[in-house]
Amino acid sequence: MSLPIDNWWQYGVIYQIYPRSFQDANGDGIGDLEGIIARLDHLNDGTPASLGVDVIWICPFYPSPMVDFGYDVVDYTDIDPMFGDLATFDRLVEEAHRRDVRVVIDFVPSHSSDQHPWFVESRSSRDNPRRDWYLWHDPAPGGGPPNNWLAVFGGPAWELDERTGQYYLHSFLKEQPDLNWRNPEVVEAMHEVMRFWLDRGVDGFRIDAVHYLLKDALWRDNPPATEPPEGGKSFGPFDQFEHLYDLDQPDVHGVVRGLRQVVDEYPGRVAIGETYLFDLEQLIRYYGSELDGLHLPLNIRTLHVPWEAAAFRTSVDEYEAALPHGAWPNYVLGSHDEHRVASRFGPDQAHVAAMLLLTLRGTPTIYYGEELGMLDVDIPPELIQDPFGVQVPGFDLGRDPCRTPMPWDEGPNAGFTSGSPWLPLGPDYPERSVAAQRDDPASTFSLYRRLIWTRKESPALHKGTYTPLDGVPETCFAYLRQSDDQRMLVALNFGDAPLNLSLGELGEEVQLRLSTYLDQPSVALDAMRLRPNEGLLLELV
Ligand code: GLC
Ligand code: CA
Repeated sequence: MSLPIDNWWQYGVIYQIYPRSFQDANGDGIGDLEGIIARLDHLNDGTPASLGVDVIWICPFYPSPMVDFGYDVVDYTDIDPMFGDLATFDRLVEEAHRRDVRVVIDFVPSHSSDQHPWFVESRSSRDNPRRDWYLWHDPAPGGGPPNNWLAVFGGPAWELDERTGQYYLHSFLKEQPDLNWRNPEVVEAMHEVMRFWLDRGVDGFRIDAVHYLLKDALWRDNPPATEPPEGGKSFGPFDQFEHLYDLDQPDVHGVVRGLRQVVDEYPGRVAIGETYLFDLEQLIRYYGSELDGLHLPLNIRTLHVPWEAAAFRTSVDEYEAALPHGAWPNYVLGSHDEHRVASRFGPDQAHVAAMLLLTLRGTPTIYYGEELGMLDVDIPPELIQDPFGVQVPGFDLGRDPCRTPMPWDEGPNAGFTSGSPWLPLGPDYPERSVAAQRDDPASTFSLYRRLIWTRKESPALHKGTYTPLDGVPETCFAYLRQSDDQRMLVALNFGDAPLNLSLGELGEEVQLRLSTYLDQPSVALDAMRLRPNEGLLLELV
């Protein structure tokens, strides 16, 4: 029996756009909203010649000093002139909707920029009415920061404001002071921000760093970590502590419920959240105890699974088993904070990864450029932009390599800009570009298009059940996707050697829907052969 599925955010495929790097329309070397409008047909023109995604999530475009490239907001209800203006934004929403593409925007509630008028007021004096909009604290009794919390982006999470003699908390950069979500005025102001965008027609939010919204009310020290973080990413010195008190607090779920209620004031909208948590129980709680939290707490656990069939199967199975009844799964394989899929796993493996992402049960998120198999780009030291890489040296945390401009064609600067791009293009851009891949039936872009359009018309793939197959070779991850009227089989070879599968017990007849080699191998269920790093999508008939 398959679950009912009526929502676009369950059915659809999400595509993440990093606006600085997608398309520059005015020649300043930085992508903008006008550029996104110009490229919407690449994303979905209603035909299988386009990628066919259903939802775009656009990273921050708000006015910002860009210390963290837009995740440091000075005005939550406007557009940075670098990206355009509100009229252009409205046109973007309209143009997207005309193509049946929904628009989800990044909402950054956990911190603002230190240039935000709220913070400027807040730091102006201890008795300013907005003092309590941020997290101010007296120095520790002997002087120094109030407790031992560290900032993700290096150094202590506390910054001393000399003039007023108190410290403020910043979980990320010191230019990103954390807002005080225990203050009802902050909550109300931010709810109003959400309504501003919902009224403008956005289809939902990707809520940044949602697990950071509340901190321990008693400001307790974090205990030292007893073991390295499990299954996750290493954040360097930040990992010295167990983050018991500075993130993912039990009462944050009340705040999340509040955000969801605002979204629910508008029919058909979605609340997605950046729940960067590798612990399954912690992650799952963001659905809310009554499914009254986020519709989609982003499942970033799959980002750091090693390229092994068993490891991926375990990650998927544990997640499927942990999902509360009625909660909808989702998968993320790449983002603006991570290494590119093809750089993590290899280019051939990236094809198998694409088939995995787009055939699992749940909403997939594709990071821009993954449909071209983009690789991390080496950034020479003098061109480094991301403060994360600079402030925490020696841990390979810089995010510039995955944020380089989208290669559109073989022309100068890949058609991304007529000016000088803010980050260098990958050296492989001519052959990697959309133009070079568009007419090549064996390209990565062709694979993505075929997978997405196949998924769209396949009830088994977009709403069917998921059943992993046992007894397959070690390098194989195979599963069935099944709806009332369709059975699909996915078999993925994670290894560099061919492998044989005998799945005669599943039936007799099978039809090849897609090989990641994008050719037409003959297949038989009882004697199936997978080539090295091949994924097969088959329909059982
Ligand atoms: C999230 C974003 C990241 C940003 C950070 C601080 O993790 O994904 O890009 O730097 O929040 O806002
Ligand atoms: Ca521009």
